[in-house]
Amino acid sequence: MAKAHSVFFCQNCGAQSPKWIGRCPACGEWNTYLEEFIKKETPRESSMGEIKAGKKYVPVSIDKISKGIEERMDTGTAELNRVLGGGLVPGSLVLIGGEPGIGKSTLMLQVALRFKKRKILYVTGEESDQQIKMRADRIGASNPECMILTETNTQNIFRFLEQIEPDVLVIDSIQTLYTERIDSSPGSISQIRECAAELQRYAKLTDTPVILIGHITKDGMLAGPKVLEHMVDTVLQFEGDRHYGFRILRSVKNRFGSTSELGIFEMTDKGLREISNPSEILISQRDEDVSGVAIAATIEGQRPMLVETQALVGSAAYGTPQRSATGFDVKRLNMLLAVLEKRAGFKLGIKDVFLNIAGGIRVDDPAIDLAIISSVMSSNADIPIPQHYCFAGEVGLSGEIRAVNRIEQRVAEADKLGFEKVFVSTYARKSIDKKKYKAEIVFVRKIEDLIKALFA
Ligand code: TYD
Ligand code: MG
Repeated sequence: MAKAHSVFFCQNCGAQSPKWIGRCPACGEWNTYLEEFIKKETPRESSMGEIKAGKKYVPVSIDKISKGIEERMDTGTAELNRVLGGGLVPGSLVLIGGEPGIGKSTLMLQVALRFKKRKILYVTGEESDQQIKMRADRIGASNPECMILTETNTQNIFRFLEQIEPDVLVIDSIQTLYTERIDSSPGSISQIRECAAELQRYAKLTDTPVILIGHITKDGMLAGPKVLEHMVDTVLQFEGDRHYGFRILRSVKNRFGSTSELGIFEMTDKGLREISNPSEILISQRDEDVSGVAIAATIEGQRPMLVETQALVGSAAYGTPQRSATGFDVKRLNMLLAVLEKRAGFKLGIKDVFLNIAGGIRVDDPAIDLAIISSVMSSNADIPIPQHYCFAGEVGLSGEIRAVNRIEQRVAEADKLGFEKVFVSTYARKSIDKKKYKAEIVFVRKIEDLIKALFA
């Protein structure tokens, strides 16, 4: 008979210890250790995947390994395909993380309903099948090949998998599953890890892609998915501001593609709508010029995207000036302000500066720098920047405007959307064929040049 023993697990990073400790030596978090009871494994009955595939692993020469199924599955949702790097890879384990209520279940149900000509099994441990049906009605799609199973016990799930043999398996959510092999309660680190390991074996042995949904809470406790990140092939993060309708699907780890791709959706009353042309929604429509607004030509992944940066500069009411940035790194903002102070003589030390990237998205592309300093200066001087101006350049510490990658693509996107002037670095002159565009290309070398061009 199995012997039960207890282990303490860090609920943040999954490290284990035989005793309780206050501070996790692995991740440095405080008070994250919880006791979990684990049954020592009895020689286990083989899981379903192993029986079915009848595979045994032996060492083979790398030359003799066949490439396997290269073909990716088209999920029927273009934005998801993009983030996955071109579609779902057979046998891959994909984790979709996100805060509760952000729309993970909606996204995956929608994908399941649009996956044509494939058998999908959607396992839910969180909602009843009636609730799922109501959601499907709301989305307004149906698919006879999509089966719903309300179950949380992995052994039972594997039994059904054997019968149904789906082409794709969706688990909503990994935190609700439990395996009989382990004694601790569902949602604990050891359960999550063991369930994921069982599903991973199943995915690899049957070449079925498995999509796991996982919750992440703001304070990181009860996270669990962190532990899974090592185990799965792809980690997608579904995020967004709940006050905006926009949702961004970002790839954090991808063994089969780039991690810089973004998928953009809008939550509507009929489910998630894919946004294939993000520039149009990220730039607010206005009739007149206002100060403190500048448009940046950024690139996320392979896709050029024009985003609006908004700045508000005011006199600091209290001794220390306030700095805040939404959708942008506040440290980088401080650096840009310091450069402005030194190079352009702005007395920003006595000013509050608030920066916002419109649409609730987050931008890491350094090419946004030029638009940010332009919007800050515009707000500071209270002189609007004309709406048909657009910016793409990185700002260096000495105030020089540096060239950014794929400038042609950025200029082409701005040109296509009808911008009349595009400000770029002088150092990008060689890579731009001016004749190709209707828009005028303005080359700037230093911040001083930019000020002259904008406000002189
Ligand atoms: P849900 O997918 O359940 O989020 P998660 O699985 O990440 O916890 O739903 C998220 C929210 O979306 C919920 O508050 C209701 C809302 N919603 C819509 O606005 N429109 C819709 O068509 C649907 C199905 C949900
Ligand atoms: Mg859900």
